[in-house]
Amino acid sequence: MKITKNCIGILLLLFTLLSSCSSSGEKKYRIGVSQCSDDIWRDKQNSELKIGAYFHDKVELRFAAAFDSDERQIQQIDSLVKTGIDLLIVAPNQVSTISPAIDRAYDKGIPVIVFERKTNTKKYTAYMGADNFEMGHLMGEYVASRLNGRGKIIEVMGLKGSSPAIERHNGFREAIAAHPGIQVIATLQGDWTEPTATSTVKHWLDVNKGTHVDLVFGMNDRTAMGARKAFIQAGAALPLFCGIDGLPGENGGIMQVRDSLLDASYMYPTHGDKLIQLAVDILEGRPYQKETKLMSALVTRDNANVLLMESEEVMRQSQYIEKLHLTARGYVKQLANQRTLTLLALATVVLLLLLLLGIYMYYLQKARIDDERTQMERDQLDFYTQVSHELRTPLTLIEGPLTQLAETSDIKNATAGARELLAIVRRNTHQLTQLINKMLDAQVGTPRDGMTSQQIDAITAMQLDPVTQPQEVAECDEEAPTILIVDDNADIRAYLRSVLQGRYRLLEAEDGSRGLELAREQVPDLIVSDVMMPVMNGLEFCQKVKNDVISSHIPVILLTARALNQHQIEGYQSGADAYITKPFSHELLLVRIDNLLHSRHQLKDLWSARPAQVHPEPQVATTVGSEELHIEDAFISRFKKVVEEYMGDSNVSVEELAAKMGLSRVQLYRKVKALTGNTPVDLLRKARLSRAKQLLTTTGQSVSEIAYQVGFASPSYFTKCYKDEYGVVPGDDRK
Ligand code: FRU
Repeated sequence: MKITKNCIGILLLLFTLLSSCSSSGEKKYRIGVSQCSDDIWRDKQNSELKIGAYFHDKVELRFAAAFDSDERQIQQIDSLVKTGIDLLIVAPNQVSTISPAIDRAYDKGIPVIVFERKTNTKKYTAYMGADNFEMGHLMGEYVASRLNGRGKIIEVMGLKGSSPAIERHNGFREAIAAHPGIQVIATLQGDWTEPTATSTVKHWLDVNKGTHVDLVFGMNDRTAMGARKAFIQAGAALPLFCGIDGLPGENGGIMQVRDSLLDASYMYPTHGDKLIQLAVDILEGRPYQKETKLMSALVTRDNANVLLMESEEVMRQSQYIEKLHLTARGYVKQLANQRTLTLLALATVVLLLLLLLGIYMYYLQKARIDDERTQMERDQLDFYTQVSHELRTPLTLIEGPLTQLAETSDIKNATAGARELLAIVRRNTHQLTQLINKMLDAQVGTPRDGMTSQQIDAITAMQLDPVTQPQEVAECDEEAPTILIVDDNADIRAYLRSVLQGRYRLLEAEDGSRGLELAREQVPDLIVSDVMMPVMNGLEFCQKVKNDVISSHIPVILLTARALNQHQIEGYQSGADAYITKPFSHELLLVRIDNLLHSRHQLKDLWSARPAQVHPEPQVATTVGSEELHIEDAFISRFKKVVEEYMGDSNVSVEELAAKMGLSRVQLYRKVKALTGNTPVDLLRKARLSRAKQLLTTTGQSVSEIAYQVGFASPSYFTKCYKDEYGVVPGDDRK
């Protein structure tokens, strides 16, 4: 049991270890990425962020895109913060609108990286992005040179209030201003998206039909392409279109330049990998640059092809990295599984070893206990064998002479009592021999070897006198005290009978139950009882005797082979007055009986000492000390009340008085006699005389009147009794 518990404990420990080993113990960095928009530029940047994160396996990215809505971006930042991010990367939709959400994140202690678009709050940790002013400026210079310093251009702006739109415009206009031959004939408001550009430009074309345009500068490639669409829709002559972003791939600016849809673009750097590196540096407390400026280049028809090839190569490499990452992740998983399996196997081996150790220890202990038990049994056997042999010799020497003695003419002519005593001795010697033989047989498991078969047969064949079992032996003085013997062994009863008869009147019962019946019916003066008996044992019997008001006063002697202190304690607890252990001397028994009967006499002044009063009937009677007195006192008081009530009635009988007490005549007689030394009739007479004496001294009534009043049928009998009781005739006590 203990071993199993230990094993379970170790198993649990191992599993805890396993689980802690299989999950990397390092903390994960949760980085929230709040994009203001969702488009191919953002897509490119997000996938770079993801690839960047592969190089930092502690990084977990959480993306959100606001689709150019301030409100949505504010909400998304707040909820990213709520999910518990460790760092926020944000491209704010406009300069001022998103600032409160950025402030909230920053104030919570979350580091904030603003990238690509600017904010007017100072609460950010770092900024990373390209120089949009410079970009606008370069584009202005390119346009001027492309148009050879002369021409009409339209500028289509990015989202109002967003920092790249403002800065690109400023840079562009500053460069253009240096070329007076270039005329910006319209500055239209876009929002970075193609549809808005198309509709805005289309509207302008509709209003300014026939106006010649040399070039349209859209602030990003999508805007430029949107404007181109408007020109096509309006059926106007197509000017040159320039944009910004210069993205690789299908629908990207580089391809549009190569295909002459756009005249030029500018590669607006995404650099998601650099952004992740900056974030990790901040999170890990490494030094970092507060402002990082990203560099880039112009895309024209001259370099579009090369750039496209290069960017396609980069994309291929990215895809390759992605693949590598997936494969590596598979390996890592496999490795983790293998480690778990190895640890499990190790745990199983350890468990098995422990189990084996447990089993080994168990058998070791069992073997030791078995050895000890065998040794004990051997010692016990030696002891029994020795004792049995020792007992047999004297037993043989008792049985033999006894058999001879029984044959002598002296014994044959002896009294029945003497012959019975001898028979008891012979029967029990025989029984003892058999017991010893049985004991030896049980221990050795072989036929008896200490006694010859002739001896055994001789004993078995002995003519044993039958046991006599009289229920009542009353061959003694009528006045002698009655003793009830309760024992299931007929020989013990016979022996007790031989010891007690002649001195006491005897009653016998073979178990506690029958004993109880006799105790109630006959109310003996004393009880001698065995303890171990069938039906009802002696302890229960004694307790019942002591709890019954009829028998509670009867002294009980427990006579038993149970010699231990604990047994004696149990005996006294059951209410026994004496506890004698077998074997016992008959003199001791006689003295104990005599003492107990004698001490009963000490209760006999109960009648004269106590005035009549009603005591509550005790529920449980015990026989110890003052409590016993109290119980018997209560009985006598009750009886006194009954006597006083009925003494005026000269016809009242003892039967009637007994009935009033709820007892039979015999029960009342015995109980009252035992407690007071007087019979109920004596007590009735004493009560009558005592009342008469009182009346004689306190009233003027005549002797005859008083005699009748106290229940005497004739005055002359009253006078006789009075004289017997008080030594004087009633007239002498007259006042
Ligand atoms: C992408 C984008 C780009 C543009 C940039 C300006 O969302 O519109 O096309 O160059 O943002 O912030």
